[in-house]
Amino acid sequence: MPIALIVLAAGQGSRMRSDMAKVLHRVAHAPLLAHALRAGASLAPERTIVVTGHGADAVEEALADIDRDAVTMRQSEQAGTAHAVAQARPALEGFEGDAIVLYGDTPFIRSETLAAMVAARREGANVVVLGFHAAEPGRYGRLVADGDRLERIVEWKDATEAERAITLCNSGVVAADAGTLFALIDQVGRDNAAGEYYLTDIVALARAARLSARVVTCPEAETMGVNTRADLAAAEAAFQARARARALEDGVTMTAPDTVFLAHDTVLGRDVTVEPHVVFGPGVTVETGATIRAFSHLEGCHVGGDCTIGPYARLRPGTELDRGVKVGNFVEVKAARVAEGAKLNHLSYVGDAVVGARANVGAGTITCNYDGVFKHVTRIGADAFIGSNTALVAPVVVGNGAMTGSGSVVTQDVPDGALALGRAKQVNKDGFATRLMAKLRTAKARRAN
Ligand code: UD1
Ligand code: CA
Repeated sequence: MPIALIVLAAGQGSRMRSDMAKVLHRVAHAPLLAHALRAGASLAPERTIVVTGHGADAVEEALADIDRDAVTMRQSEQAGTAHAVAQARPALEGFEGDAIVLYGDTPFIRSETLAAMVAARREGANVVVLGFHAAEPGRYGRLVADGDRLERIVEWKDATEAERAITLCNSGVVAADAGTLFALIDQVGRDNAAGEYYLTDIVALARAARLSARVVTCPEAETMGVNTRADLAAAEAAFQARARARALEDGVTMTAPDTVFLAHDTVLGRDVTVEPHVVFGPGVTVETGATIRAFSHLEGCHVGGDCTIGPYARLRPGTELDRGVKVGNFVEVKAARVAEGAKLNHLSYVGDAVVGARANVGAGTITCNYDGVFKHVTRIGADAFIGSNTALVAPVVVGNGAMTGSGSVVTQDVPDGALALGRAKQVNKDGFATRLMAKLRTAKARRAN
């Protein structure tokens, strides 16, 4: 059965107190909307429609990076969840199959849960609603059900005391045949406490039309929505807890997992060790056996097997480290390919560079890659030895097996096997220091008198 996703993302999210649409706020470096779409994507939907409203331009722009095939429909006035779903209708012209309604601000619904809803539909339920048993039901809509047979949903604002005592709550996720869904929505009115078109009304309408409605439940953690910055922080914490647990399960050693921050797409291989206080930005892959030492920050990079990174290293986007590379303390690497066994051990900046196998980049080496307008490339050959405190003024090439004297400013290419010295020649003046010191001390004594 073909599936269409309808993702509601028009709400203002005023409690976020933000100039940015709520669904663009990030958890683990991905917008809430991307998280919401991820579970849905596992159903291989034929169509995905995102209903936008507040901040629609920015949401549409972000969506292009998340799912190129998704289409957006604008809801000009936020008149309620049923009204929002109705906006998707023109985009489902000619579609025959199931529609699944998701919320853009609810990031953690699992694909297994959506699969269970689809299964309930296949078993014949006309409308399937995802519910959960809430520890603190608060203002959630309440599911009035008899076992898994759903009678109706009552919004908190409209509920009686007895209904408010129900702890089975509405997540907002709904599955139904698209034609049935829109036919039911056509009948929804706004005669309620909020004066809104409630999507939740479709359950009672379905039952009145002798259609069946069923509740599928999931753990409350999945239905966690984001309405405030505190919720966003709680969602981040929940994501991190799960991601850390998964990494440990997958064979990653973390001495202090609570201090390690992972991104939505971090890939850590088997037998990777991550020391305390390491931060992964987006786009990081670490291959098997590598060690990321304490206080390192990595983003947009690939770390080969058995590399050692840090402590206190910074790997920026475009960094590609081959097997067994060493990047030590206070070293920053950006847009650089570093071949097997090379060492960048101390206090260096290596940017827009290619470093050959087994090269040794001495302490304090800087690739001067930027002339104020353009970026230029530095190439360091295999087995090269870059002396401490070398400034490599790009574009420049240091040949295979070549050396640079420490403190050199290298502005010209260095042939294979050559030594480049680009610094002032040293002069020694015998006895000069002793005489100078004596003179200065005498001057000081005279001044004190
Ligand atoms: C809704 C449900 C409630 C459920 C709760 C779960 C209704 C009437 N109520 O309540 O039963 O327990 O979610 O979190 O459905 N949206 C639009 N356009 C609109 C209105 C809402 O796109 O006109 C979007 C919002 O951006 C949000 C989602 O729909 O992502 C839910 O809307 P919200 O106003 O937060 O609904 P609740 O009152 O929380
Ligand atoms: Ca809400």
